Amino acid sequence: MLERLTTQVHSLLKERYKLTNVAVEWRNPPQQEQADFATPVALQAAKAAGVPPKEIAQALLSVLQGLPDVERAEVAGVGYVNVTLQPSALLKLLLGTQEALTARPINEKDPPVIVDYCGPNIAKPLGAHHLGSHIIGQVIINIYKHRGVRTIGWTYPGDWGTQFGKLAVANRLWGKKKSGASTVEELLALYVRFHKEAEKKPALEDEAREAFAKLEAGDKELRAFWKHVVDTSYAALDALYARLHVHPDVVTGESFYEDKMAPVLEEGVRKGVFTEGEKGALIVQFAEDTGLPPLLVRKSDGSTLYATRDLAMIRYRIDTYHPSALYYVVDVAQSLHFKQLLATCRLLGWDMPEFEHTVFGRMRFADASMSTRKGTSIRMEQLFDEAVRRAAAIIAERKDTILTDDPAGLAEMMGTGAIAYGILSQNRKMDIIFDWDRMLSFEGNSAPYLQYTHARARSVLRKAGGAPGALPTSSAGMTPHERALVHALLAFPGVLEEACVHRMPHTLTNHLYTLCQVFNAFYNAEPILKAEESIRSLRLSLTALTARVLQTGAGLLTLRVPERM
Ligand code: ARG
Repeated sequence: MLERLTTQVHSLLKERYKLTNVAVEWRNPPQQEQADFATPVALQAAKAAGVPPKEIAQALLSVLQGLPDVERAEVAGVGYVNVTLQPSALLKLLLGTQEALTARPINEKDPPVIVDYCGPNIAKPLGAHHLGSHIIGQVIINIYKHRGVRTIGWTYPGDWGTQFGKLAVANRLWGKKKSGASTVEELLALYVRFHKEAEKKPALEDEAREAFAKLEAGDKELRAFWKHVVDTSYAALDALYARLHVHPDVVTGESFYEDKMAPVLEEGVRKGVFTEGEKGALIVQFAEDTGLPPLLVRKSDGSTLYATRDLAMIRYRIDTYHPSALYYVVDVAQSLHFKQLLATCRLLGWDMPEFEHTVFGRMRFADASMSTRKGTSIRMEQLFDEAVRRAAAIIAERKDTILTDDPAGLAEMMGTGAIAYGILSQNRKMDIIFDWDRMLSFEGNSAPYLQYTHARARSVLRKAGGAPGALPTSSAGMTPHERALVHALLAFPGVLEEACVHRMPHTLTNHLYTLCQVFNAFYNAEPILKAEESIRSLRLSLTALTARVLQTGAGLLTLRVPERM
């Protein structure tokens, strides 16, 4: 449709001004101008044509006004051309929105995009930053897959390291069961107790290091204990992931790379990239202009590090999957780590795919008591339980206005959704503020508002006896509210693309928030069910499409929306 307008613009520019290859861009005009699309093409062409922009704009009106799809064309401001389409033409454009609701097919032969996310540490409390990684990572993966990009969501749990030595020591000293069958809670309590006691008795740290060295050397009993801890932790994580709608495609813990580091170390030494530091340690030194400090890849006692495992994993990913991109959804505290990793890969001469630290800011709690009491580590289950408890209280308090036959289900949906949405709706590159009131608000940019708006739209459709089949192809006229809603719906495909290209989930939440506001304004201003037949069917169709966009959008954001609320 807009292509047809573009063609007309092109031919006029060519015939009258001998201009070719001018890009014609259609934007949203300012709201008060009451038009559907605006193009700055006259402004862009003016210089080359040697004519004032308004003159070109005027000339464009004559060709645009004649088109059957165009209701009105006019010159605005310094030389913009504003176009208002016939309602039927505008409605046809909505097919693009409808199409964007279905996931595009994925070609399993395409080189994949690998998204590294979650990164929980086994046998250690999860940090607040893990929450951001799980949710932001999963949403980026969902949007990519929806847009037909072959994507692998990959988690890399920290299942190897001195924390296992600490746990083994703690378990020997204070564990209720010397082997097997302890719960995640008990393991965490042991971990916390170890740190407390080690403050008074530093020798415990040495014992822990020894225990880990024995584990690395393959001690049978310690291996069995390690396996038990890992299995217990994974089972708890699975339950949490089901609740968060987080579902990684590939899980390989740090331990998986134990035997994959030696070849990388060997290559680095052979190529002169890893050089000997103090007492036989291996380090990478970067060019001065990079400003990067040296990176340790092997300690003097021969043990490997986080960075060594990451290097081995990059090699493994490239060799096994030939990815087109590697994105690491990890918090800003690890910026230096990822800069050093990439620089090291370059020094090694590896042929790298696109590589990005898809950073997110520090997570901060608006409620000061939370941050002092819990530090930066959180029990995710407890956080979600708390959100659900608060949601249940709101539902109980509003029992006269909230309609539900399943308050517990609704509270779960609202509470878990509120946390996810609360994180996603912020620009990930900034600090992420965790604020209960804002997250659970019914009026703001929040999960409950989106869920409530969806339920409202569904309720209209139920009362109408179901959603209308196809979109109407024509309409006599359109009110400003209807037109505004059509535009909010039309923006959806572009928003998805934008959220995908920049890996910025808040682009999508912002848009859904606007859509909710525009829909609610329309709902409050225009009768839907009581409108005269032809208008009623247009309004019902717009309501149905709104509900579907909200549902699809929410799904991509790991949220669920209720039928009633
Ligand atoms: N386990 C790490 C942490 O807790 C996060 C892992 C991030 N991914 C990676 N490939 N380094 O900090």
